[in-house]
Amino acid sequence: MRAATLPALPAAAARAADFMIQPLSAQDRVFVLTGAGISAESGLPTFRGADGLWRGHHVQDVATPEAFRANPEMVWQFYSERRKRHATVSANPAHFALVELERHLGERFFLCTQNVDSLHEQAGSKRIVHMHGRLMQTRCSRETCRTKPFEDDRAYLSRAEIPTCPQCGALLRPHICWFGEVPFSMDRIFEQLRICTVLLTVGTSGVVEPAASFVRMARINRARAIYIGPEEPANRPFFDEVLLGKAGEVLPKLVKELAG
Ligand code: OAD
Repeated sequence: MRAATLPALPAAAARAADFMIQPLSAQDRVFVLTGAGISAESGLPTFRGADGLWRGHHVQDVATPEAFRANPEMVWQFYSERRKRHATVSANPAHFALVELERHLGERFFLCTQNVDSLHEQAGSKRIVHMHGRLMQTRCSRETCRTKPFEDDRAYLSRAEIPTCPQCGALLRPHICWFGEVPFSMDRIFEQLRICTVLLTVGTSGVVEPAASFVRMARINRARAIYIGPEEPANRPFFDEVLLGKAGEVLPKLVKELAG
């Protein structure tokens, strides 16, 4: 997919978290995009930070279909470690603030997360899609097999432990969108980007496509674009507002302002 070619907005200064934001109107529809940053305060590492998940791993060793074919044991060890860590963490105030916003907006709210954790659900989010899949789900590795992904929190640490598909016998894999694969629910996501009037992006570095281009797509229909995180994202020029700070501190206040 190619990015839309809109001119960047004139760079407005990024602001620290003491802000005044125009409240939402009864016509506004909010599309929220979240990334690893929203779960950072829960204790889950981001990907590209100093202690990021990709620091100790080569993406091509653990997050591609080729890696799984070459070394399924190493791939499962990586995701099994993440499953174990996930069991020790809880949703934080940023996740709960989005639940508040959803309650306020009803069907005018849509949450698209790049995160594979279940913290949004744990907080109570309902109108949500996981474009990069779910850490706690497993599916068949054979693309043509029709077996559905299923809930699975187990760890598979050796080749012998990796289960096979009851239908076709292929190895089971994590239900994750790896590099080179097509993210999930894209039709629904594009439709929601088309109709939203506000795009709220939280805790994502803005370097991974297609999510990095959502801000440009939303702006085609003149949506107001707000970013929240401790540092400016790579796609920063396309945002109207950048609110610098941790999601758990900024989002609860922002949601109050938006809800009026
Ligand atoms: P990154 O690790 O690339 O970026 C995390 C972002 O969160 C950074 O911009 C940080 O500044 C920000 N951040 C850190 N702490 C924060 C906090 N307390 N509050 C708010 N923001 C904070 O993670 P993503 O952008 O989510 O894909 O990465 C996108 C995709 O790349 C992931 O879904 C994953 C990865 O490769 C797959 O695995 C398919």
